[in-house]
Amino acid sequence: MTRKMLILALAVWIACPSLCLAQYHINPPKTLFPDFRFPSDHKDTPIVFEWRNLQYGFPSEQEREQVLRNGRYNPDSPIPIDIDVYYPPNGGAPRHFVTSPRFGQGVPFSLAYVTNVQRENGSEIQAYPSYQWHSSHGANCDGLTSVYRVHIDACGQMWVLDSGEIEFVQHCAPQVVVFDLATDQLIHRYRLPETSYKAKVSRFVNIFADIRDPPPSGQCKDVFAYLADPTSKAIVVYDVVGQSSWRIENKFTYPDARFGTHTVAGESFELLDGPLALAVTPLGLGLRRHLIFHALTNELELAIPLDVLNNATNWQKGFSSSLSDFITLGKRGIQCATHAISRRGFWFCGFLEPIGIFGWDIRRPYNRENVQPLALNPVTLQFVSGMKIVRRPADGQEELWLLSDRLQKIFAGTIDYREINYRVMRCDVDGLLQGRGCF
Ligand SMILES: *[C@@H]1O[C@H](CO)[C@@H](O)[C@H](O)[C@H]1NC(C)=O
Ligand SMILES: *[C@@H]1O[C@H](CO)[C@@H](O)[C@H](O)[C@H]1NC(C)=O
Repeated sequence: MTRKMLILALAVWIACPSLCLAQYHINPPKTLFPDFRFPSDHKDTPIVFEWRNLQYGFPSEQEREQVLRNGRYNPDSPIPIDIDVYYPPNGGAPRHFVTSPRFGQGVPFSLAYVTNVQRENGSEIQAYPSYQWHSSHGANCDGLTSVYRVHIDACGQMWVLDSGEIEFVQHCAPQVVVFDLATDQLIHRYRLPETSYKAKVSRFVNIFADIRDPPPSGQCKDVFAYLADPTSKAIVVYDVVGQSSWRIENKFTYPDARFGTHTVAGESFELLDGPLALAVTPLGLGLRRHLIFHALTNELELAIPLDVLNNATNWQKGFSSSLSDFITLGKRGIQCATHAISRRGFWFCGFLEPIGIFGWDIRRPYNRENVQPLALNPVTLQFVSGMKIVRRPADGQEELWLLSDRLQKIFAGTIDYREINYRVMRCDVDGLLQGRGCF
């Protein structure tokens, strides 16, 4: 390399991320996916649901009027966060679940399914599994207090993470609640012991359940669930068979203050959040398995081997436990919220800038060459807060499901309920990887 080239390379590096990420628009590298063609900008993503505002359905008109009067429903308070989809194995109609946590008062229920009923603000949502599970607003800890995210596994079970708090008042212990989606019955509940969370500090926002004995041969019993607690800056491991849980909190689970300002489409908000995104590398790739994770307020993508994570003995030394087992995969130069990994080992995340879905092959170095934009849309993809990969039973194809919620407008108080603010979208995973964008 000549001296001139070296200086140029250095200048490009220093000017990152804005310049380098901008280059993705012009000159996407062709090395990652042989069939890759850069998608034309602003290609319409296939929107499955959209809302001006979340449209709650109630058991009766009297109930709606009563909760509006007593403050337990304030239409300007709820924000949707997550989406997950269940395809019944017998070919029945898919069911779509959304969450709207109780950030504040005024959220009538925080886990819902989307109905076909169209109302003024969009598709009506109904409480899941029932209105009664939510209506005590923290008084009944056998119900659900506040759900941020859920995870539907390959066995038709929905893992629900209930933070147990409303506006940092810990009404109930955080809990993991599992429903069988074929029967809508409660099949499992685990209340976190006090050693696994910090009351008034913790806020559990994400769950990934790793089924180690999946169908068709497995029994769906050998499970470790990983829980993200960004405000106490920890990951909690829940050993379902062993009925125990432990916290992982160290320098790798902390936010990086340099990424504390989160800017989306010209509006910014401040957060100092720890772990948010969680996904495990798939079974069957022949590689040592890892949890891949990152903090919202950080550019680092990190991994920890599951065999280390899943052994409580490795975590008895607090901050200094097992530090040498953490792997820094690479840096993004920008924040992205939740992520998902396909069964063939491709990672997806919604970047804050440029606003779009980026992909990475987990077998390659995590760097600017290999982390590529797959679908960009500065309007519909503003803050992708929920992201799941769902396998369609009919043909075995994988779909990437997203929920975008323009979180920056909520922080800034600039949300305009005359516009579409919340969207649920579906992309074809193979199509994205082949450079066809999202059809
Ligand atoms: C639609 O949302 C607006 C803004 O929050 C609210 O004032 C209105 O009552 C909602 N409409 C219905 C039918 O819920
Ligand atoms: C857990 O890790 C400890 C050492 O950290 C080791 O002695 C023990 O055998 C491990 N347990 C299992 C079940 O692998």
